[in-house]
Amino acid sequence: MSLTGKHIILGVTGSIAAYKAAVLCRLLKTAGAEVKVVMTPAAKAFITPLTMATLSKNPIAVEFYNPENGDWHSHISLGEWADLLLIAPATANTLAKMATGVADNLLLTTYLSARCGVAVAPAMDCDMFAHIATQHNIDTLRSHGVTVIESPEGELASGLHGKGRMAEPEDILARVEALLCPDEKKKSLHGKCFVVTAGATREALDPVRFLTNRSTGKMGYAVAAALAARGARTILISGTTSLPAPQGVEMRHAESAEDMYIAAKEAFADADGAVMCAAVADYTPVEVSATKIKKSDDDMVLHLKRTHDIAAELGKIKGSRLLVGFALETDNEAENAAKKLRKKNLDFIVLNSLRDEGAGFAHDTNKVSIIDSATREDLPLMSKRETAEVIVDKIDFFIKRTDSEK
Ligand code: CTP
Repeated sequence: MSLTGKHIILGVTGSIAAYKAAVLCRLLKTAGAEVKVVMTPAAKAFITPLTMATLSKNPIAVEFYNPENGDWHSHISLGEWADLLLIAPATANTLAKMATGVADNLLLTTYLSARCGVAVAPAMDCDMFAHIATQHNIDTLRSHGVTVIESPEGELASGLHGKGRMAEPEDILARVEALLCPDEKKKSLHGKCFVVTAGATREALDPVRFLTNRSTGKMGYAVAAALAARGARTILISGTTSLPAPQGVEMRHAESAEDMYIAAKEAFADADGAVMCAAVADYTPVEVSATKIKKSDDDMVLHLKRTHDIAAELGKIKGSRLLVGFALETDNEAENAAKKLRKKNLDFIVLNSLRDEGAGFAHDTNKVSIIDSATREDLPLMSKRETAEVIVDKIDFFIKRTDSEK
């Protein structure tokens, strides 16, 4: 549960949207938060303390003290207890008082003494919302560090249409999760495992020489780093590079295409997907000389044999697992990429063209297109890290879709 262990004070003020505070309270509780509700006196006219107490599983605080027994509701200890003070709905009146420091009810004194983060979800008529005074107060609160959960445009209780209605409880929950658990989005691939291949392979001719290519591994390392940052177990099978291991990634070194094939097949057995970024040699010498090959006066002919196409091999056994490939092309880019997508049974392919300025080997930037069986998305020139984020967003989307189909 995303909000387990989090303490939230839910402030409810006198707006017709107060009924949505009941739904919001339930959502916060279901997400694992401990919720204490503080209502303004006016809020009681819109929703009963009994409803909010039942849903929050805590007594409601409205007054500074309980007139029956003199029990003091300490706004200071409330403010100390909370990780977040969330005022939803927040009326124009409460926003104005917050902006100017008025302290005439328990919710406002709690706000003034709170050391935790504060978020408000304004709710009011569209003309009140648009009024320069309200907008000024909202700007003031923003400048005081308060998060304003914007009111969407829509139909209002008055029957008018415009901006001012309270954001939907689900949207408020999402904002609360983002505020209290900023890493949560990044951990969206927690529990998943991905294999990433990166860099160039080396095909030995003899103990001294090898055949290789210009790949530096930067793109693959950026993809691995982005996957790990989102919480995925990430196994990076890397050719020889000069790059440092990305944080939180399990490194496996592979020298040749054959080494990479063996390592990738083994790691893929327990994985949810693989991203094939490596520039794998398509051919390798038929024979590797055990000793240094000596030159002669004649020309030399190298006899090469095909290596395994690792992506295509994984494509044959992938089942519902995700398989992403890269295509590096110099001509007929889109056509060649589409062929590779089908031939290797990939879910999507990332096309680089060596014709694009700033894209391809060794650069820190890249300009790619992401192509699947139905769509093509052309990305602008971005850093490899940013490009990796977009690729991982797409992986995230595919994984969620597959999970929802299970
Ligand atoms: N690939 C692979 N194993 C190989 C060759 C390629 O896993 N032996 C993967 C690459 O990592 C990439 C995709 O296949 O994800 C396409 O690689 P690319 O070099 O663009 O294409 P090739 O299939 O090698 O075809 P060609 O060289 O003819 O363009």
